[in-house]
Amino acid sequence: MNWLDEKEVLKGKVIVISGGTKGVGRDLAIACAKAGASVVLGGRDVAAANAIMHTIRKNGGEVSFEAVDLLNLESIKGLFDHAIQRFEKVDGFVNYAGITTDSTLLDTEVSTFDSIMDINFRAAFFCTKYAIQHMVEQKGGSIVLVNSCHAGRGEKDRTVYSCSKGALLNLAEHISYHYANQGIRCNTITMGWTLTEGEQALREQQGMTVEQLQKIASQRIPMGRMQTSSDYIPGFLYLLSDLSAMVTGSNIRISGGLYI
Ligand SMILES: NC(=O)c1ccc[n+]([C@@H]2O[C@H](COP(=O)([O-])OP(=O)(O)OC[C@H]3O[C@@H](n4cnc5c(N)ncnc54)[C@H](OP(=O)(O)O)[C@@H]3O)[C@@H](O)[C@H]2O)c1
Repeated sequence: MNWLDEKEVLKGKVIVISGGTKGVGRDLAIACAKAGASVVLGGRDVAAANAIMHTIRKNGGEVSFEAVDLLNLESIKGLFDHAIQRFEKVDGFVNYAGITTDSTLLDTEVSTFDSIMDINFRAAFFCTKYAIQHMVEQKGGSIVLVNSCHAGRGEKDRTVYSCSKGALLNLAEHISYHYANQGIRCNTITMGWTLTEGEQALREQQGMTVEQLQKIASQRIPMGRMQTSSDYIPGFLYLLSDLSAMVTGSNIRISGGLYI
């Protein structure tokens, strides 16, 4: 591998991305394909997936899509079965999919609790189970779990979201400790604040415009601006590639200093 050549850094690898249809997941899928990987997108939005596949194939990349409902365990298993059928292995898995709601501890209903935990933790847990089943056979692999600054201090109205991300930190530590001797690595990228489709929808529900959000971000984030996909992608490519062959159990925080 030529580690200076961004077109080779993931050459020959198969990377599965949950939530590969939107936001940073979409941009990461395109970046992984550019870096030489075959990419499997998981998500529900077929039109979004088709547009991404068109972009990747136009640039000569390899990509496939599996419609997956992360609330359904058979469907989750199907994402990894699809990767094996299509590309014969799973070298990397990125758990990007997730949902956010604004609810304080005192306001949280059981339905809110269940919906957040089911996508953000239960689905991530079973995705890693199926990824690791294949990685054990292949004697190696890299898992990256997407986390949030809300797992620590964050905002008061992110209670269940914060707990779901805290559980993901535990999962990353568990996997990195118990599977290192089988060549399976697990690391975390903690994202800061980014105007993805999901974030924009949530903030619009709260009555905030993009301009207001950018202004708040410039005041709240110590480094003065929101993060974009390009801030995160080098970290993902590093953790998915052999450049980080001896790195497991780490958390790369890309938040411009938010909530430290
Ligand atoms: N945006 C931020 O500021 C920020 C900050 C820190 C961490 N994060 C993390 O970034 C990730 C994305 O969050 P986001 O709010 O920014 O959203 P987003 O970019 O809109 O992406 C959400 C993704 O999750 C997928 N998804 C959701 N529910 C699903 C389900 N039931 N089955 C299958 N796929 C499902 C969506 O796929 P379809 O649309 O195809 O169904 C979509 O690809 C989350 O892990 C979140 O914790 C975001």
